[in-house]
Amino acid sequence: MYSKSAPWYDLIYSFKDYAGEADRVRSLLQGHARRPLRRLLDVACGTGEHLRFFQELFEVEGIDLNEAMLAVARAKLPGVALHHGDMLDFDLGRRFDAVVCLFSAVGYLRTKEELETGVAQMARHLEPGGVLIVEAWITPEVLEPDRLHGIYVDRPEVKIARMTKSWVEGRSSVMDMHHLVNSARGVEYFVERHELTLFTHEEYMAALTDAGLEVAFDREGLIGRGLYLGRLPGRDTRT
Ligand SMILES: C[S@@+](CC[C@H](N)C(=O)[O-])C[C@H]1O[C@@H](n2cnc3c(N)ncnc32)[C@H](O)[C@@H]1O
Repeated sequence: MYSKSAPWYDLIYSFKDYAGEADRVRSLLQGHARRPLRRLLDVACGTGEHLRFFQELFEVEGIDLNEAMLAVARAKLPGVALHHGDMLDFDLGRRFDAVVCLFSAVGYLRTKEELETGVAQMARHLEPGGVLIVEAWITPEVLEPDRLHGIYVDRPEVKIARMTKSWVEGRSSVMDMHHLVNSARGVEYFVERHELTLFTHEEYMAALTDAGLEVAFDREGLIGRGLYLGRLPGRDTRT
């Protein structure tokens, strides 16, 4: 997943307002944290688009499973610690005032147990009074499996058409993303399969609660998929 599309990811998602999203996340973090916000970790940071804006506000680090995505992030974020790792079992050996996991990356976890494990790992990296923000994948009720989805990029230096065929298999939404890319490298065609689990609202809530967090839910979130906010009880005694 993302291995072939990573170099084109930022162009494919150039319609996304990362600056606005980072600002909204900052505001939510400030509203919920019970400690000064100095250090932020972005879990499943991808190509580092949110980190680009977060780094102006916090000391930031990122972690992602995919080396190709990290390579793009490293090129644009020199000096930022970007770790290769799995949200299921990472241990950075330090804690953060804020941990975020955005653009539905938790959906890549395959089972309820994995969701619980992944969220618990994120919570373990929080300081007391710190806040975790998880942007959900769509829930089963809002899934539109028959919706046709296409993204087109038309720049002088590159043309991309990405057509997605999606369907449901058990508890997963499966998406075959067909990419046709015309660049100086020639015309390439490749397909990437993405499988994201259709966790329910109750499963997200339980995962954060079981990780020992005080949970709030923002139904609209950044792009209508909902945001879960979990605060680790306690507060910074230095404040
Ligand atoms: C939709 S992208 C989101 C990237 C970035 N957060 C953004 O907003 O653009 C999902 C990201 O999740 C990462 N990912 C998927 N499963 C992961 C896991 N188990 N641990 C860490 N990263 C993971 C992928 O490599 C990919 O970069």
